[in-house]
Amino acid sequence: MKRTNLPIHVGIIMDGNGRWARKRGLPRIEGHREGAKVTERIVVAAKEMGIKYLSLYAFSTENWRRPKEEVEFLFNLMYEYVKEKLQLFLENDVKFRAMGRLWELPDYLQEGFKLIEEKTAHCRSMTAVFAVNYGGKQEIIDAVNRAVADGIKEFDESTIRKYLYIPELPDLDLLIRTSGELRISNFLLWQSAYTELWFTETLWPDFTVDEFRVALEDFSRRERRFGGIK
Ligand code: FPP
Repeated sequence: MKRTNLPIHVGIIMDGNGRWARKRGLPRIEGHREGAKVTERIVVAAKEMGIKYLSLYAFSTENWRRPKEEVEFLFNLMYEYVKEKLQLFLENDVKFRAMGRLWELPDYLQEGFKLIEEKTAHCRSMTAVFAVNYGGKQEIIDAVNRAVADGIKEFDESTIRKYLYIPELPDLDLLIRTSGELRISNFLLWQSAYTELWFTETLWPDFTVDEFRVALEDFSRRERRFGGIK
């Protein structure tokens, strides 16, 4: 693939863990456990391919509606993940960032995120953004409220961007969603105004580095005009 056509920022809605488990007669949480392994492989592959920002939707502001046990399992899984994968992030020179209404998460998870963020802050090859208790509308609302608290009365694009959770996160070039659902589901709304969309029927635990490569190759062939003409 020509490097010039490589997306800078790729987002993934990692969907289908529950269905993957159900198909095997397993509890839903086993799908999440398997999904976390795929997440790890894709982070490393994305970095090796030269992607600069990879945003992963791990928990939406709407996911609190799930059974308490599943929510707790997901938080625990993420905590284990950041503890166990710190070394992997360092070896791969990948910076970890968590993004969302993090202050509403359990303290242990907030501390886990803080620790891996501090330890990987110097990493430069790629930034992996984990969206947790994240909603795109909520991000814009939080940005506006913080700007108003700072006394800002007039807004343009750059004002809003400055107050987003991660202001330096560039616009999203490519959004991948697994499991056959054709929706954005409140992910990166501000950043996805001109995003290319790529959908697959594959359930997240079955998603592979090869299929990731197919998505990137497809992206590299698309003609992006950003509202202009060629
Ligand atoms: C969607 O599948 C998946 C989630 C809501 C959680 C995503 C979490 C992971 C991929 C694993 C945890 C991540 C890390 C970084 C440890 P679903 O449960 O909505 O599946 P379904 O639509 O088939 O029910």
